[in-house]
Amino acid sequence: MSKTNAVVIYASKYGTTEAYAKDFATALDLPVCDYHKCPALAAEPGIEKVYVFAPIYRRTVAGLPEIAHVFDPDIVERVFVVGMTDPEDKETIQFLEDQVHDYMPRASVSLLGGKIDIDKVSTSDKMLLKVMYAFEKRKAMGERTPTEQRLVEMVESRQTDMTDMTLIEHLLENLQKN
Ligand SMILES: Cc1cc2nc3c(=O)[nH]c(=O)nc-3n(C[C@H](O)[C@H](O)[C@H](O)COP(=O)(O)O)c2cc1C
Repeated sequence: MSKTNAVVIYASKYGTTEAYAKDFATALDLPVCDYHKCPALAAEPGIEKVYVFAPIYRRTVAGLPEIAHVFDPDIVERVFVVGMTDPEDKETIQFLEDQVHDYMPRASVSLLGGKIDIDKVSTSDKMLLKVMYAFEKRKAMGERTPTEQRLVEMVESRQTDMTDMTLIEHLLENLQKN
């Protein structure tokens, strides 16, 4: 695959999405940039492809409006969505894909596993997780979606690591074939 004029942009609060983005960019030898700092990069002429890495917070893919504001949404090739969403949870995945397509209609979407250490998140995120947890715990087990069940388990175990960098290698193999 030609690496010409492609860039990697990420949003990340606790570093997991950033690590995926940097691995991907290093493997393809592409410039990589936090979305808060990317306007200068976006102003460079001739960018033809954008790869986005973005985490999920409260069922929302972070950074999409900001990135779509700075880069032409039509050149966003793929959005890698990072979180605890269960790959079998088709309904939630569709919901996330719809969010991406609202901003970046031509992008394909890939799901990557997230990571959390509850003792290291901000006080407001701890509060938020507490509220989400209490809400889910009120439901009977069978009423939770697979992702809601994962979020419950994530809070109970305090540390969860679903990252899998080999997924990036598989994706790279596929990109290089095309
Ligand atoms: C407050 C909070 C809310 C979250 N909500 C979701 C969610 O709705 N769906 C999901 O799949 N993952 C959710 N996660 C998990 C994060 O997406 C995951 O920890 C991800 O790795 C964070 O990426 P970052 O380290 O790049 O910020 C949540 C995490 C926190 C702390």
